[in-house]
Amino acid sequence: MKMTLSKLLAAKRPATGKKILLALAGAGLLMGAVGVNATPEQDRNSLVKFFKDKYPDVKKDSYVYGALAFDPDAKAQYDSIMDFPPFGSVLDQGKAMWETPFKNGKKYADCFPNGGKNVVGNYPYFDDKAGKVVTFEMAINACRVQNGEEAFKYNDMKTIGTLTAYARTLSDGMAMNIKVDGPAATAAYEAGKKQFYSRRGQLNFSCATCHVNNAGSRLRSEVLSPVVGQSTHWPVFRGGDKLVTLQERYFGCNKMVRATPFAPGSVEYNDLEYFHSYISNGLPLKAAVFRK
Ligand code: HEC
Repeated sequence: MKMTLSKLLAAKRPATGKKILLALAGAGLLMGAVGVNATPEQDRNSLVKFFKDKYPDVKKDSYVYGALAFDPDAKAQYDSIMDFPPFGSVLDQGKAMWETPFKNGKKYADCFPNGGKNVVGNYPYFDDKAGKVVTFEMAINACRVQNGEEAFKYNDMKTIGTLTAYARTLSDGMAMNIKVDGPAATAAYEAGKKQFYSRRGQLNFSCATCHVNNAGSRLRSEVLSPVVGQSTHWPVFRGGDKLVTLQERYFGCNKMVRATPFAPGSVEYNDLEYFHSYISNGLPLKAAVFRK
């Protein structure tokens, strides 16, 4: 029996998760809406246009809500949970971490312009001297090391996760503002873009398979979120209490298709985050949100 991809994605109760993924993998999906020799701005515009053409009724600004943009009931549930977030105490812990001075008396706020307010939309940026992409988490660790403290591990939700869950809220409302200037920055952006469009893993999926071509469709019980807006709201609290950073989510999505994941904090994920964030340029940030 041959089933089309859209039927597969629409099916709420496939026989098994494994079967549906294998069938999807075999379906030979389209390449994304992004050209090979395009500039970052052309990439962003063509992705925005792709979704606008496909879902004319969904406003671009609502893409910051991810899959909720396509699901008014789930969005209403989200709004009521966000009125009294169950993870409030984690944000309080993060705030205490942010405000506690280092042994030398300095604070995180001293490492950032404007005391760390309205800065996150500038991350990741490409540091020409260092020759690499710098994420907000790396800037936090650089601040620690400069002040004689040890760096946090990028996959440690109790430290970097909790701290950034609060620190990122200081930039709520700031527009994503990623810049790609010069050949080295462009090369990092292109490496991230390649990550996003490369098919990987036993199931031969790319990020774009799910978050471009099938965004807005259902995969098992989940509506797939569009790449536009996806990088604006980190970290998330899944189920209201499980803290997940953006790069932990990359890790989870890689594992979902049985690809060998990279480590959070790796060059591969930093470049991916650079491309991924650029695509949300102009959209407002909102840190620490509820997810299913
Ligand atoms: C097999 C399909 C699939 C692939 C391939 C996939 N993802 Fe996902 N991804 C999901 C599902 C399902 C979710 C949860 C529902 C949602 O929010 O999209 C998700 C969620 C996410 C989210 C969180 C969205 C939010 O608002 O909470 C991000 C970010 C993300 N994926 C990025 C990626 C990236 C980057 C890649 C490639 C490394 C990737 N995904 C590959 C299925 C996939």
